Amino acid sequence: MRFLFEKPIFGYTIGIFLVVSVTGILLSVLIGDYLVIASVLVIQFIILFLFLLHLYESVIKPVKKATKTVDEIVKGNYRARFHHPSTDSIGQLSTKINALARNLNELTIQEQMQAEQLSTIIENTQSGLVLIDAKGYIHFVNRKFLTMFGQTTQDFQGYLYYDVLHNETIHETVQKTFLYERNIKEEFTHYKGLDKYYIEIVGAPIFDDRNLLKGAVLVLYDITELKKLELMRKDFVANVSHELKTPITSIKGFAETLLDNPMKDLDKSKEFLEIIYKESHRLQLLIQDLLILSRLEKENFQLVLSTFSVNDVVNEVLPIIEQRFEDKHLTFDKAVDDHIQLTADKEKVKQIIINLVDNAVNYTPEKGNIYLRITECNDSVCIEVEDTGIGIEKEALPRIFERFYRVDKARSRNTGGTGLGLAIVKHIVEVHDGTIEIESEVNKGTKITVSLPINNDMQK
Ligand SMILES: Nc1ncnc2c1ncn2[C@@H]1O[C@H](COP(=O)(O)OP(=O)(O)OP(=O)(O)O)[C@@H](O)[C@H]1O
Ligand SMILES: [Mg+2]
Repeated sequence: MRFLFEKPIFGYTIGIFLVVSVTGILLSVLIGDYLVIASVLVIQFIILFLFLLHLYESVIKPVKKATKTVDEIVKGNYRARFHHPSTDSIGQLSTKINALARNLNELTIQEQMQAEQLSTIIENTQSGLVLIDAKGYIHFVNRKFLTMFGQTTQDFQGYLYYDVLHNETIHETVQKTFLYERNIKEEFTHYKGLDKYYIEIVGAPIFDDRNLLKGAVLVLYDITELKKLELMRKDFVANVSHELKTPITSIKGFAETLLDNPMKDLDKSKEFLEIIYKESHRLQLLIQDLLILSRLEKENFQLVLSTFSVNDVVNEVLPIIEQRFEDKHLTFDKAVDDHIQLTADKEKVKQIIINLVDNAVNYTPEKGNIYLRITECNDSVCIEVEDTGIGIEKEALPRIFERFYRVDKARSRNTGGTGLGLAIVKHIVEVHDGTIEIESEVNKGTKITVSLPINNDMQK
């Protein structure tokens, strides 16, 4: 019986049946005419049926439609809509359900966009990222991490970190992060093929709402470039100290000797004084060169630009070096296009020519030849210094512009060289946006070509 009333349609049918039956009984008691009773009952049945139909169309059917739409929304289909033309409560319900679906749709789109942005950032960040849960299983590794360590996501995701990350420092970082529940920073070296990388790793714990440890995120930075710079800086300081130490020790030693034996042997004293003079001159040159370099490297360094004839510059520079050609019986050929007008820092251009010709003189044995050619080439001025000297072996060529680098330390020191000449040239060329090239063959000679933009109108 209860089953009958559970289904609304049965309830209505029984209701109609009861109303019709009760009316029939009442009428049969009150009126004896069966035709009238039958007509009344039929009309009553039709009215009730129409009422029922109206009720079904206006309430039951829309509610069913609304339920179906809500079901779709619950399933995640936020495009589902429910339309009801009237403005009654069902109409209002339809408007609200549609608004809800629209809002949910917008929220989902926003969420998707945020998730996409986040994953783009994570994937393209220049640091390697690894997400580990509280049990030590890897949940995520980003692209940078894969480029650092090779392999694919599948080789890491879902595995225990210590099974797939074969590095003691990484293990230690994870363990300390879990143990101390704070950020842990470590460094390690990593080899990929023959290349050596310096990696800094930071382990950061992740907590849930109740402040319980949920896992850790590992961030790995490639600090190879930084390390190289640090190493260069340390090398530079060590080199400067070494370069200063030698002449200072020598000056001090000879001065002490002179103080201990004042003027006994005049020739010896003169010889010592000459050494002291030579060494202090070397010191002066070294400090001058270091100052030039540091000025060139200053961030707010400004070129003093002017337009000048290259031929004039060469004529100003030559007297400084000419004597040395004669001393070493070197021939000097110069071919300079006398119409070339260059816009650049004149003093710096002079310095380039002096340093290059100075090297050519120093590293060319007696009776050798030196050539200086200055021509216009593709919107640039090409300064070419060539010699028939000792040359530079191939292995040394890439290092020739490093500060303090000398192919043959002993020989270069004898020439009074500090090993900074070419480093200065390279810096000057760079601040002029120019290029420098070197060709050399041992015992045949060396050719260095500097090219500077003819109109260097960029204010540095
Ligand atoms: N023309 C050249 N022929 C052969 N070797 C050269 C030549 N120019 C440079 N070198 C090599 O390159 C090294 C670096 O040259 P660089 O001019 O920087 O220093 P330097 O000549 O030793 O000292 P300085 O600072 O006094 O110039 C030299 O020590 C020398 O070994
Ligand atoms: Mg030099």
